[in-house]
Amino acid sequence: MRKVITYGSFDLFHEGHYQLLKRARELGDYLIVGVTTEHYDEYRGKLNVMDSLMERIENVKKTGFADEIIIEDHIGQKLEDIQKYQADVFTVGSDWVGAFDWLKDYCEVIYLERTKNVSSTMLRARNYKILKLGVIGTGRIAHRFYPEAKYVSGVNVEGVLNPHLESAKRYKEQFGLKFGTDRADEFWEQIDAVYIASPHDTHTGYIRQALEHGRHVLCEKPLALSGKEAKELYELASAKGCVLMEAVKTAYCPGFQQLLGIARSGVIGSIRDVEAAFTKLENPDSRELTDTSFGGSFLELASYPVLAIFKLLGIDYEDLRFEAIRDEKGIDLYTKAYFRYKNSLATAKTGLGVKSEGELIISGTKGYVVLPAPWWKTQEIEIRYENPGQNEKFFYKFLGDGLRYEISDFVAAVNGNEKKEHKLKPEESVALARVMEAWLGCRE
Ligand code: CTP
Repeated sequence: MRKVITYGSFDLFHEGHYQLLKRARELGDYLIVGVTTEHYDEYRGKLNVMDSLMERIENVKKTGFADEIIIEDHIGQKLEDIQKYQADVFTVGSDWVGAFDWLKDYCEVIYLERTKNVSSTMLRARNYKILKLGVIGTGRIAHRFYPEAKYVSGVNVEGVLNPHLESAKRYKEQFGLKFGTDRADEFWEQIDAVYIASPHDTHTGYIRQALEHGRHVLCEKPLALSGKEAKELYELASAKGCVLMEAVKTAYCPGFQQLLGIARSGVIGSIRDVEAAFTKLENPDSRELTDTSFGGSFLELASYPVLAIFKLLGIDYEDLRFEAIRDEKGIDLYTKAYFRYKNSLATAKTGLGVKSEGELIISGTKGYVVLPAPWWKTQEIEIRYENPGQNEKFFYKFLGDGLRYEISDFVAAVNGNEKKEHKLKPEESVALARVMEAWLGCRE
């Protein structure tokens, strides 16, 4: 029996996929088809797959050409499979010519002519309207946003709004956008969705304007500085049929999703403590260290550690208190927020101009999980036990500046994929705003 094996995402199943599978089956007597998981696609940098793994498997199954369907979820798996299933032929489309020649040491490698004028990428562009996005604010994060958005299909950054026209124009020129304006009415007219990266205290005003105009919103953290305000904005978004997402990048990155699965799976028992830190040395003249109203380490950085705490322990803490070291202007340089839950404790530590180890440590009744800095770009997870011989380490990819994950989920949510919105639920985002509110309140 001649066994043939092939792989693909098979997203938005099309004629090219059908022809490929048909011809692959004709190369032998038994066809094994490997379908990629979302996680592996993300790892490969393919962030725009629309159909779920189950839908993609179903579509391959329906062709009747696959004798066996397997799941491809990691690099290096093709060789493992070829040996495990004793495949005689490995085949893929001609877009891959040369890429798999190294497998010739193990089996025959055949590149099949690709069907012309069709691809999942083409269908995605046709089926889903390209989202016209505008950026508000032109600071550091907005500069990282544009290059990251380039990695996501289905979205185009059209223009920028900044009350300082010169800054808007500079940003527009730098990234070759269609427009740069200081006029809000002009801005809303030309876009379907907005990314808000303006100063913290202006977020809620812009979100409200955007939603009133029926525009979808991706807003930098902290989304709001009061729980009530955040809650009202999510209610307004829902009433207007718009997506509102808080851009805490860690929430959307693949490694962090894996962490949640590991930490909550029971391998470390019940979680009793979460210690999360994020510190940064910042230029003393920076806005963060000079703005006496909305500067300081906590407002700037706490979204990350508090996100980890909420995702691991939930939002129903019983008590929250803060300890801070402030400069002469009253700006917090180093702050610890202590959360008490019914059966566990948590600390969020932030520093600006104070540097410490930026770790995330999750302690449980059977072991603990350690993520070294920068854990907010989750790439490394270690599970440690009483007996160090059992320790395990896992590695994950975090591509570029990592904003592409939240942008990709935002675009998917706008296109009706609600699953993508839930990596940071509205109630969790509201709870984050409540923490900011508590912090601002304790300052007075
Ligand atoms: N394929 C093909 N002809 C096409 C499109 C794809 O023969 N017109 C083949 C690919 O070469 C691969 C298999 O179908 O062997 C699965 O490809 P996949 O990457 O899932 O499909 P694409 O349409 O190429 O997806 P994308 O546009 O996302 O890259």
